[in-house]
Amino acid sequence: ASGIGSIVTSIIGTEKNFRSRSSRVSYKNHQLIRLYPNSQEHVNDLKELEKSESEDVKFWTEPMYNRTTDVVIGPDLVSDLKAFLRYKGIDFKVLIPDLQKTIAHQNPKMTKEQRDDLVTTNGHSMTWKRYHRYGEIVKYLEYLALRYPNIAEVITLGHSYEGQPIKMIKISTGTNKDGEAKPAIWIDAGIHAREWIGSAVATYIVSQLVEKNSSYAKLLDNTDWMILPVVNPDGYEFSHTGDRLWRKTRSNHADDEDDSRFLQLVNRYTRWLWGKCEGVDPNRNFDYHWGEVEEGGASLDPCHETYAGPRAFSEPETKAMADYILANKQNIRVYLTLHSYSQMWLVPWGYTDTKPSDYSELASVAKKAIGAVTKIHGTDYQVGPSADLLYPTSGASDDWAKGVAGIKYAYTVELRDRGRYGFLLPASQIVPTAREIWAGIKTIARLVICNT
Ligand code: ARG
Ligand code: ZN
Repeated sequence: ASGIGSIVTSIIGTEKNFRSRSSRVSYKNHQLIRLYPNSQEHVNDLKELEKSESEDVKFWTEPMYNRTTDVVIGPDLVSDLKAFLRYKGIDFKVLIPDLQKTIAHQNPKMTKEQRDDLVTTNGHSMTWKRYHRYGEIVKYLEYLALRYPNIAEVITLGHSYEGQPIKMIKISTGTNKDGEAKPAIWIDAGIHAREWIGSAVATYIVSQLVEKNSSYAKLLDNTDWMILPVVNPDGYEFSHTGDRLWRKTRSNHADDEDDSRFLQLVNRYTRWLWGKCEGVDPNRNFDYHWGEVEEGGASLDPCHETYAGPRAFSEPETKAMADYILANKQNIRVYLTLHSYSQMWLVPWGYTDTKPSDYSELASVAKKAIGAVTKIHGTDYQVGPSADLLYPTSGASDDWAKGVAGIKYAYTVELRDRGRYGFLLPASQIVPTAREIWAGIKTIARLVICNT
């Protein structure tokens, strides 16, 4: 066989290295590599590589023309892959030489004693100096509701696949002078399990609005806030305990009754072949043009990272969130969903590359928001339509919020960074990221709700 043929075979042939589900996944000697394709042929080569769906080749960003692509490579493939790239003339750079080391350093450890001390002195253990477990986040919300009962209320939207309560906090100083509910801003995060920075930013915003409420009297006078820091608690916890790079929910639909017997058999076979195919991509599971875009944007294969699920709202997490939003849609003026990474303020649509008729209004508000973001620490954000700037996707929450719930100002915010650490953003960047995003969100609140 020719040299290149055997490299491709060895890349495609690595499915044998299934990870065992019971133990924690290690990324020892896995490398994060940035690729610089500069022709359509390069992009096609990379798409071919992506299609191999090997456990040892994981794309963090889609291969696209004139765009860089970040990919995680398992230790057995690193040298073959580099040979392949050199042979194809695709430039690359190693961003992280050993992912496990970066994982180990990302989140400073806290002992039980330290946590107990924090609870004794502060009433909760949140620090914004580290990423916290779901239980700590929920306890924080409950602490606030107890300590600030006049403005903070914890609402259980439903339960996750594994039975964890999905809790959000509603922050409101009450009705307006006419006794009506105020216009509200919705913020969610943690749709994708591994994107820890989003949930940390969400709880930071909660802390500002509640614990520093006297500094935000005017903002609270005009606006209610509905903040859901972790949409996908099962995935979030699994990214702490099982696989740091887990993205999806933790459901298993192999035995669903409403699937056809044929699909069941196919699913069972792929599961047997691939080992681990749990979970649905919650951000492909919303009921708006669900399952439409297959090319790169959403997959109907349960083993894939962007599996859209067996049907729209198959996941209790997306269903619970959507039901609450629908029940309150007449008050919600702004829908914001926090993701990472790439520093973008994305405007609908994702499912099509045509723009909504009010696109220019949404983009102009977003541009003012990123102006405010950049002022804080100089961090650059890009504004643009999802399908263009990122890649086409169907069934994402922002499209649904605008298309079905009718919330005009719907955005997906892709937080820091641009790939130096990617999903493994060090905890030391929580506060700077949160401060700049909070500036952007306050600007949106003023523009959309207060008209100033
Ligand atoms: N990173 C997000 C995802 O892949 C982006 C979603 C953007 N929204 C959209 N409608 N395309 O889910
Ligand atoms: Zn995401």
